[in-house]
Amino acid sequence: MDHTKVLMVCLGNICRSPLAQGILESKLKGLTISVDSAGTEAYHVGNSPDPRSIAVAKKHGIDISQQKARQFSLSDFKEFSHIFVMDRSNYNAIIAKAASEEELKKINFILNDQEEVPDPYYGGPEGFQNCFTLLEDACDRIVKSLENE
Ligand code: 4NP
Repeated sequence: MDHTKVLMVCLGNICRSPLAQGILESKLKGLTISVDSAGTEAYHVGNSPDPRSIAVAKKHGIDISQQKARQFSLSDFKEFSHIFVMDRSNYNAIIAKAASEEELKKINFILNDQEEVPDPYYGGPEGFQNCFTLLEDACDRIVKSLENE
């Protein structure tokens, strides 16, 4: 691995992690960091982000419409230097796949203190705005911490 690579992980890779990817990409300002996202489950593989995620991103000037969902793969542990999960269920799914202490250490909750980014899938648009707000703060923190690495 030659530079910092960040993977955002949620359940379906259509609501939260595509937003997290788009927001972080929008904040990189010349930092050589690559960002991707994946889901723990395969339900939506190949699909575009949820229209509600596309809409809330667009409202804030970010285009995530070209992303396509994929499932987390074991090779992601080799490919990525940092893996951020949205909630405890994602965390449990990914730590269960880690094969070494080194791989385990790459996995962190995207919010402080293991707080969760609530799954907005079954709710209304306000849940997507809430995700955006939480993820924007989180990505500001991530950029600061990566700048200091
Ligand atoms: P995400 O949201 O994990 O933020 O992409 C969900 C997307 C799909 C489903 C659940 C959550 N689903 O059950 O299909």
